[in-house]
Amino acid sequence: MGKVIVDKDKCIGCGTCVALCPEAFELAEDGKAKVKESADAKKLEKGIKEAIDACPVQAISFTS
Ligand code: F3S
Repeated sequence: MGKVIVDKDKCIGCGTCVALCPEAFELAEDGKAKVKESADAKKLEKGIKEAIDACPVQAISFTS
């Protein structure tokens, strides 16, 4: 599994990813989600996948 990224152009700041997996996501000052520096994608894989599935605008993805 690679790196998690949030596409800020797509994100509408709904906060679902933060609610589902606060270890990996936080809302930045611009009101959009960002991936926490400390997020361990491997450990948080389940929560991150849930967030990917739950995001209403498919703004979250993995890079390989
Ligand atoms: Fe944005 Fe989707 Fe999260 S809209 S706040 S990346 S659930």
